Amino acid sequence: MNVYDSDRMADVLTPLGYVATAVPDDADMVILNTCHIREKAAEKLFSELGRLRNIKERRLEDGIATVIAVAGCVAQAEGAEIIKRAPYVDIVLGPQTYHRLPEMVARASRAAAGQQETKGILDIEFPDEPKFDHLPEVTAKGFSAFLSVQEGCDKFCTFCVVPYTRGAEFSRPFDDVINEARTVAAGGVREITLLGQNVNAYHGETIKGKSGSEAGLGELIRQLAEIEGISRLRYTTSHPIDMADDLIAAHGNVATLMPFLHLPIQSGSDRILSRMNRHHRIDDYRRVVDKLLAVRPDMKLSSDFIVGFPGESDEDFEATMNLAREFQFVQAYSFKYSPRPGTPGAVMQDQIPEALQSERLAALQEILEQNQINFNQQCVDSVVPVLFDRQGRKDGQLVGRTPYMQPVHVQAPQEMFGQIAEVKLTSAHANSLGGELILAAHQSSPMSEIEKVSA
Ligand code: 5AD
Ligand code: SF4
Repeated sequence: MNVYDSDRMADVLTPLGYVATAVPDDADMVILNTCHIREKAAEKLFSELGRLRNIKERRLEDGIATVIAVAGCVAQAEGAEIIKRAPYVDIVLGPQTYHRLPEMVARASRAAAGQQETKGILDIEFPDEPKFDHLPEVTAKGFSAFLSVQEGCDKFCTFCVVPYTRGAEFSRPFDDVINEARTVAAGGVREITLLGQNVNAYHGETIKGKSGSEAGLGELIRQLAEIEGISRLRYTTSHPIDMADDLIAAHGNVATLMPFLHLPIQSGSDRILSRMNRHHRIDDYRRVVDKLLAVRPDMKLSSDFIVGFPGESDEDFEATMNLAREFQFVQAYSFKYSPRPGTPGAVMQDQIPEALQSERLAALQEILEQNQINFNQQCVDSVVPVLFDRQGRKDGQLVGRTPYMQPVHVQAPQEMFGQIAEVKLTSAHANSLGGELILAAHQSSPMSEIEKVSA
């Protein structure tokens, strides 16, 4: 989501004459787009700001001004505290107000020139009007694009800061999503990943502005699948209780919907899931997986785990280990519980000591990593469609993704960049695969034929 937001901030600033640079010393403006989900996000922010302060001062000696902005969920959570602790910060803005950046930049410039009293602009409102209605049209970058369809969350898991920083659940209307997808498809994008903190809770208006005309993610996916040029659809991140039958059905009958789903489980213990306020039990999760496999037998899952949530006993943790063995996720993200200020989990009794959290995390990760390696190894010798979307490090090499998001390194001609081609997988590593292009059968066919086969 932050990658998408950062791109949109760049889009907003383009008409003002800004272009992106990778070098902070060259930048007239630096925006730190922050995440507050885990760890000591605020501390990381202030240490980064310290480095930027030096750059700002150095540039000022040469008579050049630098605007420093802090965006994202740490900005939302810390607000005015940031300007208080780091008065050289010019702008603090939340994730729902970045469409107003041009106005903020203008005010910051006036303040820097001494034409305005107040320094340090703060805009962390949750405006009534969604930002999406005020953003310029997207521009396609690359072959795989994120498309934000839903934001915020009303679930209030007791460990999670998202409902406080991103705000209430909101779905973009169908037309807006379809139009954005058409724009990026026309610009060459082949794969779209629909984004939302709770993406499968999506319930957009099918007629913009007409309340009651709502439909869910399954229907949205069916409509997106009709757009020419889009060969792959994905969505992330989902909540198990929002896996509606209609969405599950889409996995069975939308060919471009990839057979891979990120479905966080968090814990293998019903007792802990209840303390986490997850609204589902392990059996509910199991039922969803069974339904998905019934319509799409080649479906694979990835997941998120939190270890050391307050009150997690040895028995609870053992249940998580067993669950990891049972479901054999082909990929997983696992974290030590990190108390987030303002969330119910942070004030629960029985916080787990860090050393025990680390021990549990290492044990769980051993199983999760082994599952991933096993899957990668099982894939060797199979032929899969790969979307080449990156240049490889070696000469003549391209890197692409399988339907299961595994990166594959392949010797391939440059014309294949941005194309989907059949690849025979030849080697497996922990985090990637090696493969060879299958050209023989299609050698005389035009590229579109290869695409047809793979799509
Ligand atoms: N501590 C540790 N992990 C967390 N996550 C969210 N909040 C916390 C927290 N306070 C993890 C969850 C979620 C993923 C995005 O981050 O597993 O699914
Ligand atoms: Fe956070 Fe996801 Fe729970 Fe919402 S459903 S509170 S975003 S973990």
